[in-house]
Amino acid sequence: MRPVAIGAGCAALLLWGGFAAQAQDSTQARSLAAACFTCHGTDGRSVGGIPPSLAGQDKGYLLQQMKSLRAGQRPATIMHQQAKGYTDQELELIAGYFASVTPGPAAAAPAARGGF
Ligand code: HEC
Repeated sequence: MRPVAIGAGCAALLLWGGFAAQAQDSTQARSLAAACFTCHGTDGRSVGGIPPSLAGQDKGYLLQQMKSLRAGQRPATIMHQQAKGYTDQELELIAGYFASVTPGPAAAAPAARGGF
């Protein structure tokens, strides 16, 4: 094989690896975020904005809020407990996921439907 062909092959492999890693990240991000759907609505579109919708909010804002909730710096009723179990990397994935969702009509959260 000529060096050019080998180079192209490597580039393709690197590219493929990148896509695979990205796909895995976004699956993990949605799984993590799903823990929030019960209260914040499916995909973070909450009913009547209570609790606040997370869909389409700024990633940096969400990350900052989660970190200050986790540290107990932002007053909250239950978010201190919710935020506690996550590493920085997980919070980053979760914030990225909600930021990527288009805000839209709320799908009633199971709790809001009285569905449990
Ligand atoms: C048991 C219900 C419940 C769950 C589960 C929950 N939240 Fe919340 N969340 C709330 C409530 C209620 C508030 C309003 C603050 C408070 O009273 O704690 C809130 C507030 C927030 C805020 C602040 C929003 C803003 O606009 O400033 C963020 C960010 C947030 N939650 C993210 C999350 C994430 C991410 C998860 C999942 C890891 C999650 N929440 C899981 C109920 C919940």
